[in-house]
This record gives sequence, C-alpha cells and structure tokens, in this order.
Amino acid sequence: MARMEYQSIQAAMDKGKGKVAVRGWVWRERGSNKVRFIIIRDSSNIIQCVLGADHKDFEEAKKLQVEASVEIIGEIKKDERAPTGYEIQVETLKTVGYSDTFPITKDQSPEFLLDNRHLWLRSRKMTAILKIRSTYVQAREAFFEKEGFYRFDSPILQPMQSEGGSTVFEVKYYDRKTYLAQTWQLYGEAAIFALERCYNTGPTFRAEKSKTSRHLSEFWMVEMEAAWMDLPAISEFAKREIKYCISKVIEKRSEELQFLGQDPEALRKIAETPWPTIKYREALKILQEKAGINVPFGKDLRTVEEDKLMEHFDTPVVVTHYPTKIMAFYKPADPDQPDEALCFDMLAPKGGGEIVGGSQRSLDIKDMSLRLKADGEVDLSPYQFYFDLRRYGSVPHSGYGVGLERVIKWICGLDNIKDAIPFPRTMLRMGP
Ligand code: 4AD
Ligand code: MG
Repeated sequence: MARMEYQSIQAAMDKGKGKVAVRGWVWRERGSNKVRFIIIRDSSNIIQCVLGADHKDFEEAKKLQVEASVEIIGEIKKDERAPTGYEIQVETLKTVGYSDTFPITKDQSPEFLLDNRHLWLRSRKMTAILKIRSTYVQAREAFFEKEGFYRFDSPILQPMQSEGGSTVFEVKYYDRKTYLAQTWQLYGEAAIFALERCYNTGPTFRAEKSKTSRHLSEFWMVEMEAAWMDLPAISEFAKREIKYCISKVIEKRSEELQFLGQDPEALRKIAETPWPTIKYREALKILQEKAGINVPFGKDLRTVEEDKLMEHFDTPVVVTHYPTKIMAFYKPADPDQPDEALCFDMLAPKGGGEIVGGSQRSLDIKDMSLRLKADGEVDLSPYQFYFDLRRYGSVPHSGYGVGLERVIKWICGLDNIKDAIPFPRTMLRMGP
C-alpha cells in the first residue's frame, strides 16, 4: 500500500469516506472472538475502529489494552451506532506502544485522579478544559496586541512581598532569602514609564492557608498596567478584556463547553450584556436588604457573602471602593471619600467568586510607607525602586490582575479550581 499521511481523527471524520490514516491511543476496546471494536482518541476527537476475526491483525488487536498507542489505516464511513457517528474498517493496525493495565477506571475519587494527574490529563474532561484554557490565553494575547499593549515579563524571584506578608513564599537565595512573586504588578508599574501600556501572563504564588475550592498556592495571574488610566477606565477595560476572551472561547470551543455541561448560548448572552459596576457600600446594602446579612463597613467580603451578593446578578459585577484600611498599601484612598479606596474587584456569578482585582495606584510615598509599616514591614529598602517611580516623572496609572484559573473554573462550570490548572499546587498537594 502506498504510504499515507496521517490526519487527525476529526479531519478523517470531516472527510467522511474513503481511505484514512489516523493514530492515537486506545480509549475503549471491546468485542468477542469474532469481532473487535477499538475506539481510539487523539487530541481532536475519538473514533470507533473495527476488525473481524479473519483480519491478519486480529490477534494483535486482542492484545491492546486501554491507552496503547496505535496507527490505523482503513476505510472510514458513516455509522449511526458508532459513538461519534463514524467508523473505520481497519486495513492495517500497528501497535506503537503497548499499555500496562491503566490505573484509571470509572468512578474514581477526585484524590485518586489528582494523584494520577499525569495520566488523568488524557481524559476527555481534562482535554476539553486544557483546550479552553489555551484558547482563552491565546485570545487574551490577541486582545492586548489589538489594544496596542506590549508584553512585559517580570522576575519571579522578588525581594519583597506585595500582597500581604502572610501569604508570601520564602525561598533560599544563595545565603540570603527572597520571595516568590505574589504579583507582577510592581514591576509592571516600572514598565509603564517605558511602554505606557503593558501586560503579562505569569506564574503567581500565594501560601494560602485556606483549603477552599477557589485557592491555589501556584496559579497564573494575567495582569495589565497602563499609564494615564484611572479607576473607571481600568474597570471598564477589564470588562472588555474578559468579554472578548469569552467570545473567542464560545466561537472556537463551543463543543468543549458543551462537553463540560456548559451552555455556550447562555455564556454568549453574558458576554453581550452590560456588566454592572457598584460600590462596596452598595454591595453591603444589597446584602443587608436582600439577604439579611449584616457586614459592617470595613470588613472584606467573605466567600459566602460574595456568593450571596452574586445571587442577585446574572453577569459579572465590578465592585469598587472597598475600605481603604483593609486594602494593599498601593491602593490609594479616594480623595473625596478617604475611607474608600480607588480599587475594584470583579465578581463572577454562579459561585465564580472574585475573578479580578485591580486599582488606581498610589503616588504618595509617605502614605505607602506608613501602610507598609503598619503591615509589619520593618525594612522598606526593597521598595525604594517602587518609590522611585513616584520620584521621576510620576503619572496617574492603574492596572489589574485576572485569576486565570478562577475565570476558567467559572466559564467551564467546574466544582473546584484544581481542575482549571494542569498540575495543581495547594496547601496539601505539590505532586505529581
Ligand atoms: O486580588 P489580587 O490579590 O490582586 C493582585 O495581586 C494585584 N496586584 C493585581 C494587579 O492589580 N495587577 O489577585 C488578583 C486575582 C484575584 O482577583 C483572583 O482572581 C486571583 O488573582 N487570585 C487567585 N487565584 C487562585 N488562587 C489564589 N490563591 C488566588 N489569589 C488571587
Ligand atoms: Mg483581591
């Protein structure tokens, strides 16, 4: 037989008839002494392949266990009974790699699947999530390019904390100590004096003590920083970024969304409706009047309170003006209302929680120094570079960070954030 080019299973099904060559991994296998059905998968889809007892490769086919890798050449045709509507009548079957008995079978516990994450990645569920995540990040790159932003990469090893000392990971650095990045922001702020508008996609580390379905110890924060922008501008920009990325995910990954049980049309509606902006004080009022929950001004919203609030919205909501005294040192007080900071969070509906955090940036070195000291920082020397940015041609600027896994969890409707990242790290897990 003439040598054939391999094509993806999806491409073979799109062709629909004639001879095809596909390769992949055995997803399911069954049959009798008369006939064998082998469903193979590749990154694009799955397809049923069949061969009868008179086939020269029948004995070989019987040896194949789930996850063996194979190359198959055969005749493809429509078949209503096959799982994806097509079947390949095998002409040649070649085993590339045999598989031991695969440890993952039906109905295993989430912990078992996490212990075997390197193998569970192959599941159709994880494959769908990984594709959506990839599409989301690629869309975001395109968005920022379109908007005239530059990509700017910052150090991961940083000499200081930036989002509160309690969640910082300390690292031995030769004979000194340093920290893993809690955010890209402080370096992003340095970059705007050269690039004006910049963004990143970077690993972020937080020693979160909370064992919730929304916290990871290592996650990917996608941040941006822009000169000349203020709080209203930045929060509207955040809405546009996320809407754009969601629209691209719907356009390119609607099958994967559906596979995960999500309705792309419902998501599209969300992406096409205006998203409200309210103040923290208004959020407290909604909580009190509609949910009977009393949160005193000055307390951060806890997960339960965010969820209760979001029961009253179908789209993400931007909440601005959180109490200054509980905010990070770089979030400035509103000059017209100093107990409120010029900051925002974006909360997602349906238990999505906080997906974005951002603010205008303080330009007041004295105020920031006092707040860092109040936070327990004794040595402010690592912050001098940051203060310098206020000394040499300071300009108003703002930025925000999106929790990539939080957004993926929300749009994929996942129960736990751990499924939104390939190899999750939490307080209780750092392997495989
Ligand atoms: O609200 P955060 O802490 O904001 C910052 O770090 C700012 N410096 C960002 C900026 O302005 N450039 O974190 C931003 C987002 C949160 O809204 C949340 O979505 C996500 O990062 N996030 C986490 N995601 C998973 N696990 C964790 N432990 C997270 N902590 C924050
Ligand atoms: Mg936050």
